Amino acid sequence: MTVSIEIGQVNSGGPAVLDLEELLATRLLVQGNSGSGKSHLLRRLLEQSAPWVQQAIIDPEGDFVTLAEHFGHLVINAEDHTERALQVAGERARQHRVSAVLNLEGLDAENQMRRAAAFLDGMFNTARDHWYPMLVVVDEAQLFAPAVAGEVSDEARKLSLGAMTNLMCRGRKRGLAGIIATQRLAKLAKNVAAEASNFLMGRTFLDIDMARAADLLGMERRQAEAFRDLERGQFMALGPALSRRPLGMRIGPTQTHPRSGTPKLMPLPEAALEDARAVILAEPPPETSNRPQRRTPAPDLLSQLMAAKSAAIEAAPEPEATPLSDEEITQRRERLDRILTAILAEPDAGFRAIGVLYQEFVVRCRIEGLAAAVPDMTEFRRMLTHARAGLTAEMAADTAWQDVTLRASILPEDMQGVFMVIARAAKEGWPCPGDAALARAYGTHSLRRARRLLTYIEEQGLIVCQTDGAGRRIVTLVELAWATAPGDPNAPDDAPLEDERRAASA
Ligand SMILES: Nc1ncnc2c1ncn2[C@@H]1O[C@H](COP(=O)(O)OP(=O)(O)OP(=O)(O)O)[C@@H](O)[C@H]1O
Ligand SMILES: [Mg+2]
Repeated sequence: MTVSIEIGQVNSGGPAVLDLEELLATRLLVQGNSGSGKSHLLRRLLEQSAPWVQQAIIDPEGDFVTLAEHFGHLVINAEDHTERALQVAGERARQHRVSAVLNLEGLDAENQMRRAAAFLDGMFNTARDHWYPMLVVVDEAQLFAPAVAGEVSDEARKLSLGAMTNLMCRGRKRGLAGIIATQRLAKLAKNVAAEASNFLMGRTFLDIDMARAADLLGMERRQAEAFRDLERGQFMALGPALSRRPLGMRIGPTQTHPRSGTPKLMPLPEAALEDARAVILAEPPPETSNRPQRRTPAPDLLSQLMAAKSAAIEAAPEPEATPLSDEEITQRRERLDRILTAILAEPDAGFRAIGVLYQEFVVRCRIEGLAAAVPDMTEFRRMLTHARAGLTAEMAADTAWQDVTLRASILPEDMQGVFMVIARAAKEGWPCPGDAALARAYGTHSLRRARRLLTYIEEQGLIVCQTDGAGRRIVTLVELAWATAPGDPNAPDDAPLEDERRAASA
C-alpha cells in the first residue's frame, strides 16, 4: 500500500498527489520568490501528512506555530533554551515520536543557525532504535545552508551547514526526510540542494535562480522562462514522489493559517487628522525606561593582564620550544592545584562567579611565573569541579574517578561540583554532606535550592537518596554503588573541618 496525500489540483484538472513513502526516500526542494506561496505549500503538505508521519519544522519566522492548535505539534521557542537543551529536545522528540515546531523567531542570524543546528543534530544522532520515518521541514533553508559566508561566525555557519548536509545527504537511512524551501536557489548551498530528487518550482524572477532551477529540473533554460509567469500558489512539479515529467499544479487550501497574513489594503480613516504636522512631529516623550547606561569599567590591572595573556598567546603560538618531562608536568600541575586550593580557601570563594575566580587564578599564576601554563576556561572549570570536591590531580586521574566525571558531564556545568562532592563522600564512606555544604558547592546560600538540586540529580538517574530511621540522609551512586554514611541534612557547613580533612588525606 502506498500513502499519497493530495496537495492541490493539476492544471489539467484532477488531484495533484504526493507519494509520501517515496518522498521519505527522495526528499523535496521548494523554490520561489517571496510571496510565491512556499510556506503555504509547506503548510498544506504538513497538514495532509500529519496523520501519517511524525514531523519537525525549522521555522525562522514563527509562521508554523499555529499547527499546534489543530495538529498538536509541540512548539519549542528556541529563544528560551540553550543549544544543549535543544539538542536533547531533538533527541527526545524522536524517542517519543512527538511532532514539533522549532520557533526561531526573535533570534539573530547567528543564534538561529546555532540553535537550529543543535536541534537537527539531536534528531540526527538519536539511537538506531528510534529511527522512525519523519519529515523535517526547513523553511528559508538558505538561512541555514547559505551558499556563501555571511556575517555570522565561521563556527555557527559550519555547525548549521553541517546539520543541513547531514539532514539532506545522510538522513535517509535514519528515517529523516528533508523538505527544504528557499526564496533564492542561488543563495542555497549547492550540495544541500543537490540531494533533493523532488522539486516544486514557484514564481521566479531572477535569471540566475531560473538557470539553476532549469539545471535541477533538466529543462532547457528557455523553458524555465515559464517560471516567471507562475501565479501565487502555482508550482511546477517534478520528481519520483510527484511526477515523471514537469507538471503544473495549484496548491490547495489549508486548515490553519500563518499567524500574520500579508497586510491587506485598508481604506484610510475618513476624518483627516486635524493638524498632522503637530501630531506626527510632536516632541518625543522622555525616555521612560531608566535603563542602566552601559558602563565601560576603567581599565584595571586584571583586564590588562588578561589582555596581555591573550596577546602573548596569539604572538607565540608555541611558547614551549622544548617539551616538558613527565616530572615537570606533574610538578606544574601540583603548583596549579595549590594556587587553586589557596583561592578556594578564601571565605566566600564558593559564592564567587567563575569568571572572577578565573581572573584571580590567572593573576596568581603569573605572579608564580606560570603564565605559560595557565589553563583555558574549560580546563579551569574542570579543575574547579575537582577541587571543590576535594580531589587532587592524582586522584582525578584514577579510572573510577574518570567514570564519575563522565557521569557528571550529563549535568549542567554548575551542578557537576555538587555531584562530585557527593561522589567524594560516597567513595570515602564519609557522612552525606548536609544541605548547607551542598548549597556552598553549588554557589548558593539557599538550602531549599540545594535540596531541589539533589532531587534533580536523582531524577537524572545518577544517585539514589534514602533516609534512615533517624532522619539522616544516605546517597548511593547508581551503578558504582558507592554509598555515603548517613549524614544529617541540617548539619552546619563545616568547611574549615573539611579543609583539615583534605589536608590530612593529601
Ligand atoms: N495556494 C494558495 N492558495 C491560497 N492562498 C495562498 C496560496 N499560496 C499562497 N497563498 C497566500 O499568499 C501569501 C503568500 O504566501 P506564502 O507566505 O506562502 O509565500 P512565501 O513564498 O512563503 O513567501 P516568503 O518567501 O516571503 O516567505 C499568503 O498570505 C498565503 O496565504
Ligand atoms: Mg514563507
